[in-house]
Amino acid sequence: MIIIAPSILSANFTRLGQDIEKVRAAGADWLHIDVMDGHFVPNLTIGPQVVADIKKATDLFLDVHLMIEKPENFIEAFAAAGADMITVHVEASYHLHRLITMIKSAGCQAGVSLNPSTPAVMLENIVGDVDLILLMTVNPGFGGQSFIPSVLPKIAVVKKALEHYNPGAYLQVDGGINNLNAPEVVSAGANVLVAGSYIFGSPDPAAAIQALKNSG
Ligand code: DX5
Ligand code: ZN
Repeated sequence: MIIIAPSILSANFTRLGQDIEKVRAAGADWLHIDVMDGHFVPNLTIGPQVVADIKKATDLFLDVHLMIEKPENFIEAFAAAGADMITVHVEASYHLHRLITMIKSAGCQAGVSLNPSTPAVMLENIVGDVDLILLMTVNPGFGGQSFIPSVLPKIAVVKKALEHYNPGAYLQVDGGINNLNAPEVVSAGANVLVAGSYIFGSPDPAAAIQALKNSG
């Protein structure tokens, strides 16, 4: 089964509740929430208070993608806000195993993410400990960027490692995902597709979500 996680980065923040309800009614499985700090990535978004408000407004699974330095300082706050999954970047952590343990102890599922230029080998000693691996298919920081096809072989490599060491874990892709490249990422092994501009920018979000789900 393919899980579709619309990214609220492409929503209209003046009517966030309605936009979330729109994608839920359109068939979204998860809600992807991008947290940016202006340091790890050159953009700023939202903090735990917004996640807490979203939690009150929807029963969708909240998939929180932290693109921040010192993520260890914010795990507790995002867990308390109602995050179901917290994903941190390998590039932003000195003590990744400790961080994953911290996320799980806070009652959340734990994900780790790699930027497009970070090799799969960085996951070697952590692959068995995570609930999700997120492979960025754009350089993180903004919605609406173009998919980077050179990430495709890395998806296949990580899929193989997961099959061997952690078959229950999710393999997520994020960035520039649309109906044209979804079949390629799915056949490489991805089973959670994040999409922001493709879904929120569509005149028919239900059709867009269905097109992504049909790419398996
Ligand atoms: C990028 C974010 C993505 C972004 C995806 O830094 O992590 O989640 O919202 O947006 P699209 O699908 O428009 O590339
Ligand atoms: Zn994201």
